[in-house]
Amino acid sequence: MLKRMRYISELAEDLGPGEIERIGRLAAEANEKDQITGMLVASGKLFFQIIEGPEDAIDRLWARISRDPRHRNMLVLAEERGDLPRLCPEWGMRQVDLDAGGQRRDNALRTILKVIHSQRAVMDELMCTLEESVWHGLLEADASAAKASS
Ligand SMILES: Cc1cc2nc3c(=O)[nH]c(=O)nc-3n(C[C@H](O)[C@H](O)[C@H](O)COP(=O)(O)O)c2cc1C
Repeated sequence: MLKRMRYISELAEDLGPGEIERIGRLAAEANEKDQITGMLVASGKLFFQIIEGPEDAIDRLWARISRDPRHRNMLVLAEERGDLPRLCPEWGMRQVDLDAGGQRRDNALRTILKVIHSQRAVMDELMCTLEESVWHGLLEADASAAKASS
């Protein structure tokens, strides 16, 4: 059974291309030992990563990645499990720096990443509104129940 995750995150600080390259290189080495494959895309202040492999190995890797202080505000975009073919069978961790090429296609991809990332802010706002609204509704319901019983 294969588990695959896709997520997006923000660089915690201004990591230079050298540091990003190092993350990808060390990741590729470590992942090969754990039968993990994937792709790591860097663009401006954003990362997009696909990781896929045996479920327990992916869970252990995710525990490490999600507490890594070099990035923050992870947003899991998709999580799949099952008898899935690998998307990146040849790549321990293939790295793509969209800022390095300057090609027209890379501009479009950078925009797509930014728009996906901006969804996070929209989701946060919607969640807050939902929570507050339900919370106020519950408080009001409790208050009128208390009034009715007094
Ligand atoms: C964006 C990003 C992606 C990463 N991807 C991987 C990865 O695919 N495989 C991996 O072993 N470490 C990856 N790392 C590094 C891990 O977060 C962690 O530093 C590394 O696995 C060593 O963990 P440890 O010091 O707890 O042993 C990534 C880090 C970042 C910031």
